Amino acid sequence: MVNSIKTDVEAQSQKAPLLVKVCRGEAVPRPPVWLMRQAGRYLPEYLAIRAKHSMLDAIRTPELAVEITLQPIRRFGMDAAIVFADILNPLIGLGFPLEFEENRGPVFQRKIESPADVENLVVPPPEENVGYTLAALRTLKQELHGQDRALIGFAGAPFTLSYYLIEGAGKSELVRTKEFMYKHPASWHKLQEALVTLVADYLVAQAQAGADVVQIFDSWAWALSPSCYAANVFPYLQEIITRVRSKVATSIVYFAPAGMGLYDQIANLGVDMVGIDWRITLPEANKRLGGVLPLQGNLDPAALFTPLPHLEEQVRRILEEGAKVTGHSMNLGHGVLPKTPVEAVGRVVEMVKAFSYSASS
Ligand code: CP3
Repeated sequence: MVNSIKTDVEAQSQKAPLLVKVCRGEAVPRPPVWLMRQAGRYLPEYLAIRAKHSMLDAIRTPELAVEITLQPIRRFGMDAAIVFADILNPLIGLGFPLEFEENRGPVFQRKIESPADVENLVVPPPEENVGYTLAALRTLKQELHGQDRALIGFAGAPFTLSYYLIEGAGKSELVRTKEFMYKHPASWHKLQEALVTLVADYLVAQAQAGADVVQIFDSWAWALSPSCYAANVFPYLQEIITRVRSKVATSIVYFAPAGMGLYDQIANLGVDMVGIDWRITLPEANKRLGGVLPLQGNLDPAALFTPLPHLEEQVRRILEEGAKVTGHSMNLGHGVLPKTPVEAVGRVVEMVKAFSYSASS
């Protein structure tokens, strides 16, 4: 009996996509590869859809979201598909209407300006708030059936979502966010609690809809001092991770670009993998994170614009550095930039798929 259970677990594990294996700390013949923002404006087939549909329509129409998610997979064969959505659209249901404006990015019609704006926040259940993304995930799960490919869901971290709600985009000093946090600690706590529920329930629902891996994007955490992160950000992230783990077995990736000053804390979050940007090498990041966590990254997105020999040299270097760390999932250090040459993306994926740990050692 015990043996047959063990065999089932082993068989399941052998079937697990490469990315899931790396998240679980299992040995793999080569790193998996996917790229943040692999679906997007550098792809002519994406631009063709966006010429006819707004960003929000594309996110809210499951057939379009599924199609956009699969576009890079069909073209390049990445090892994972990330559902097409954004970190900000779930905030609409929390009472913060939003538009993605051409050449301007996301714009909230209502921002958080005073404690009154966080009174009476009601967190709708995910099926009601973002049922369209859950529907897209369920279809994607079927579409990917039988392929050795992971399905990725995601959400924004409470701090980064708060930043957009309080500040709007483009304020790198985050003065208003920090002012709000310290001037109105009770309201900050209330906002974080609402966002913890929103994000945790959403990640659980995405896992239940078929996501093998979920990624938490904390794009603005780098702007915080370690003490500020410890007091106002870390506890809420931990709460999300505890809640997700109590309900589903999905792997969890945390990504805070330029977050080196926070690595000793990130090491204790309890996630399965950490996203690394290009400003640090993978071995150095591995060391600072305690040497036990698999890493995702960390090619400079701008390297895809450089001459092919230079791009290839950078990819090779990262593959070799990745072979020396606890576990590696090949990716960029941030999202694919608009106007990135399509051939460069193809070359990166091809090089990773041709790589073998046994041949390199
Ligand atoms: O990675 C993927 O392919 C999945 C889709 C995805 C999008 N946004 C689609 C998108 C993901 C994972 C995100 C995450 C996201 N969204 C983050 C975290 C990652 C990061 O970049 O730090 C953040 C901060 C946002 C918020 C956001 N969305 C901004 C600031 C902008 C405008 C700037 C920009 O890059 O255009 C967006 C728009 C957005 N989200 C686009 C896409 C494809 C461009 C929309 C378009 O014009 O077609």
